[in-house]
Amino acid sequence: MANKYQEAYERSLKDPEGFWGEAAEDCHWYKKWDKVLDDSNKPFYRWFVGGEMNTAYNALDYHVDNGRGDQLALIYDSPVTDTIRKYTYTELRDEVAKFAGVLQDQGVVKGDRVIIYMPMIAEAAISMLACARIGAIHSVVFGGFAAKELATRINDAKPRVIVTASCGIEVKKVIAYKPLLDKAIDFSDYKPEKCVIIQRPMEKATMIEGRDVDWEEAMAKAKPADCVPVAATDPLYILYTSGTTGQPKGVVRDNGGHMVALKWTMKAVYDIDAGDVYWAASDVGWVVGHSYIIYAPLFKGATTILFEGKPVGTPDAGVFWRIISEHGVKSLFTAPTAFRAIKRDDPKGEMIKKHDLSNFKILFLAGERSDPDTIQWSERNLNVPVIDHWWQTETGWAICANCMGLHYFPVKYGSPTKAVPGWDVRVVDEAAKEVKAGEIGALVVKLPLPPGTLPTLWQNDDRFVESYLEEFPGYYKTADAGFIDEEDYVYVMSRTDDIINVAGHRLSTGAMEEVLSDHQDVAECAVLGVEDQLKGQVPVGFIVLKAGVDRPDEEIVKEVVGMVRDRIGPVAAFKTATVVKRLPKTRSGKILRGTIQKIADNKEFKAPATIDDPAILGEMEDALNKIGLAKSRK
Ligand code: COA
Ligand code: AMP
Repeated sequence: MANKYQEAYERSLKDPEGFWGEAAEDCHWYKKWDKVLDDSNKPFYRWFVGGEMNTAYNALDYHVDNGRGDQLALIYDSPVTDTIRKYTYTELRDEVAKFAGVLQDQGVVKGDRVIIYMPMIAEAAISMLACARIGAIHSVVFGGFAAKELATRINDAKPRVIVTASCGIEVKKVIAYKPLLDKAIDFSDYKPEKCVIIQRPMEKATMIEGRDVDWEEAMAKAKPADCVPVAATDPLYILYTSGTTGQPKGVVRDNGGHMVALKWTMKAVYDIDAGDVYWAASDVGWVVGHSYIIYAPLFKGATTILFEGKPVGTPDAGVFWRIISEHGVKSLFTAPTAFRAIKRDDPKGEMIKKHDLSNFKILFLAGERSDPDTIQWSERNLNVPVIDHWWQTETGWAICANCMGLHYFPVKYGSPTKAVPGWDVRVVDEAAKEVKAGEIGALVVKLPLPPGTLPTLWQNDDRFVESYLEEFPGYYKTADAGFIDEEDYVYVMSRTDDIINVAGHRLSTGAMEEVLSDHQDVAECAVLGVEDQLKGQVPVGFIVLKAGVDRPDEEIVKEVVGMVRDRIGPVAAFKTATVVKRLPKTRSGKILRGTIQKIADNKEFKAPATIDDPAILGEMEDALNKIGLAKSRK
């Protein structure tokens, strides 16, 4: 007999309109859709066309109106400020309505963009939901990005208002955000009309007369705003993510499809019901933060946790267990790197034993490949299923997972299990032909993508088609490579582009190369992601100097490291570079990145037949040894 997963999976592909139409009945609509899936303008697909709804209404008011007003909606837990603040659904709705009023007072109307550059404080969630309430489009920018990156996003999104805080706290360091914002606005060609600033007690921001508005003062004066009905196809947010150049991609998310898909995933994928406590230990600046700190748990009527801290050091590797036991968390979702950090500080899991984790049922991991060692350590020490699942900023929710609310499949280490209902995942070769089970190729998804996925890139349909739809006609290109085994388990092995994954953060080595190339003494360079015990990968730069440069290598390395931090931000974790005489290349002049990578990671390699001069590989090993890599060969 077919299990619930099989039934749902088959129906979702055979009858997507019936499947998602039924899921949509679980949501509140001001006006029902005319058509569940509009495929009249391929390859652009639209979900719930003609429908009108409001995301913030579904996340908050809906629950207040249906008797959950006194239940906790959000718990802000901040070990770095020693604060725990709890909001019921009614309280959160009221704060959101008031801040929506503040935005209206600054002139924000439906369709306007609002950039949110915030640390992990409750006001970040309030700002996002307030935008949704009045139909404004938010674009959250991760706090670890530098002013230049923020400026690029300001120029692209053209926000009427930017919301920020005076500072963020990184373990013990206070990071002033306001000077970064001021610098970004100086750099950008487009200027926002107003900036709303939350003054945190650790750092007072200097305000610019006429432009900057104090959050508290504006809230005290504001009238609560009502929910504004929007079309299901109207954008809810833009989230910029790394592409293969320094110009990030503005991933667009619609309102209706996003609400339907995310609410459905809470039970199907995460086995969460209304009233459960759910925690995604990520950051609102990333897609996981959008989908699973804010929107999905609130659509479902669960309690979500917003955590301002790190897995270790705030104050120690026991903080996750303290939060799980103190707030009765049922499921935790985080990146494997967080568990590698905990495992490093508490290898025997001693701190876990100090807490009552009896409510804790499932650990979910995503954001990077889950190494079997981390999964097994977690299984042993937590005694709960550990579920790897695979997704991307573009998809907004999991492509593959062990759907815990539908059917549990035995875990195969190294695989995020099977395609989630809605996703027709295939593996193809370069000619877009499907390969046999077990063979590696490009992981693609047959169109149409399910609701909640990106309908396009912000004001750039051409780049959307060119980036995702052109190479394999009829399919969405994930830019991940992998295979599917005989039992339909999917394995995600590596990216097919220059994206690397550093501590669960997605970064473009191409963007870092653009920065290095701008250094006056650099003739040529390559940036690669090499294996790292904690962060999965870290970027390493190889630079060839221009003829005649005779400054010490260390000086130049220090400068390029500083440039990446200054232009991209500390999140790039670019700390290592080395000067080499030349880079290994093919006879046609292509840099042999794969070969350098293998040498750096101590993997077996053969000099490619096309190499210009094999002697150079010995030089590369020496250069890598100097920076502590490629050690075992020596
Ligand atoms: N604002 C300002 N700076 C930030 C920042 C933010 N929001 N987030 C990170 N940074 C800075 C850090 O302070 C650090 O700066 P430094 O070079 O001065 O030390 C740098 O960016 C790199 O940060 P990070 O990659 O977080 O490394 P870390 O060594 O501080 O911490 C981990 C390592 C593994 C503990 C941490 O990366 C982590 O918790 N990862 C979980 C990842 C995650 O949630 N991913 C989301 C997808 S699910
Ligand atoms: P992001 O857009 O930041 O979420 O990064 C998406 C990329 O992270 C994917 O394309 C993968 O390369 C990688 N990724 C995310 N989750 C997994 C996973 N469970 N297994 C392997 N790779 C993953």
